Amino acid sequence: HGTSKVNEKGHLEIGGIDTVDLANEFGTPLYVYDVSLIRERARGFKQTFENLNIPAQVAYASKAFSTIAMVQLADEEGLSLDVVSGGELYTALAAGFPRERIHFHGNNKSKEELEMALKNDIGCIVVDNFYELELLSSICESMRVNTKILLRVTPGIEAHTHDYILTGQADSKFGFDLQNGQAEEALVKALKLERIEVLGLHCHIGSQIFETTGFILAAKKLFEKLHEWKDAFAFESKVLNLGGGFGIRYTAEDQPLPAAQYVAEIIEEVKKQASHYSMKMPEIWIEPGRSLVGDAGTTLYKIGSRKEVPNIRKYVAVDGGMTDNIRPALYQAKYEAVLANAPLEKACETVSIAGKCCESGDMLIWDLPLPKSDSNDLLAVFCTGAYGYSMANNYNRLPRPAVVFVENGVAKLVVKRETYEDLIRMDMSIKEKINN
Ligand code: LLP
Repeated sequence: HGTSKVNEKGHLEIGGIDTVDLANEFGTPLYVYDVSLIRERARGFKQTFENLNIPAQVAYASKAFSTIAMVQLADEEGLSLDVVSGGELYTALAAGFPRERIHFHGNNKSKEELEMALKNDIGCIVVDNFYELELLSSICESMRVNTKILLRVTPGIEAHTHDYILTGQADSKFGFDLQNGQAEEALVKALKLERIEVLGLHCHIGSQIFETTGFILAAKKLFEKLHEWKDAFAFESKVLNLGGGFGIRYTAEDQPLPAAQYVAEIIEEVKKQASHYSMKMPEIWIEPGRSLVGDAGTTLYKIGSRKEVPNIRKYVAVDGGMTDNIRPALYQAKYEAVLANAPLEKACETVSIAGKCCESGDMLIWDLPLPKSDSNDLLAVFCTGAYGYSMANNYNRLPRPAVVFVENGVAKLVVKRETYEDLIRMDMSIKEKINN
């Protein structure tokens, strides 16, 4: 997919560059991003809105992969940006991302984070709970600034996805409940706050979703309330943010819809609802993370040791693991992989790909058909672009891998590989002197 292909040397090539050369130049494990595929995905979302002439913002949910280079790429493609912490906001500002297109999420933003957002006059704050509404209003008063907000509501919808990443159902730590009156109470409170302008509502029903049903139901539920609120409080939502969660294909089991179809069906439903209740068509905002960067990322690993449990399993270990991709351990996520130095060679054995961490759960792929592999062969694991680097950690004091952007035959290092010095940079000695 994307610009991946097999070159004349019989190696996997991405963005016009041989992955064997990438591994030699930048080392392994290595995250490689196919930049033109990210652009294609971004344009896929944006153009569907444009073609249908619907005012919209496509905000990249930067939690999926937040780095300066990625934020700059999102800007180049005219996306907005969703940040969920002071750290993601800091990254966005450091990257020079236009502040008016930054949206700030999170269920427990601190006073300092809210002040930072207000000081930098970002586009909008997605208010999650009563505590935050009051805190934000009091900070606005003391700073004498105004701000725009969306109210995050929980519409009570279960998207079909892994339990850990369900956020739209009623029993959720996120948002004001739409059904039990909380959302209405929040709106009434917010409308009275002088320095706060309520742009509209936000909801996010889950992640890695393969159907449009959940989004359509969510839109219906939002409008059921919106039309009541129009009559009761003369409130009209200028913006309806339906969140992210559009699924991608990790393995053959996954059958996502094309981005355009999610968007087109959402638009159609919002139009239908707006006209049904004779309301103005709101701007539609969405927040894809995974579907913008997920399949553009490939991780290259060097194969090392091998262990055979006779008649049961062949373990093949790579030089990374749950430190650079925690998703298999955390969500039983599945991935596909090939030998990057011989992707077309016929599979002749079934192996399980182990990481190098001291933990039995550190397995990247179970039962992968692979050609006979040897130490120093290169394994390419596909679709690691979302929540890979961003959830990477230093368990066992493994340095985090480097990240490379490839496009049109040019490779650009966008995150340096961590060094051992980086690992102890924050450590303080309890002795007067530390060796070296
Ligand atoms: N908007 C909100 C409010 C969200 O909470 C999320 C994801 C997104 C947008 C973007 O969702 P996406 O389009 O990427 O599915 N670590 C998990 C995923 C957690 C998603 C959390 N929220 C994983 O690796 O699968």
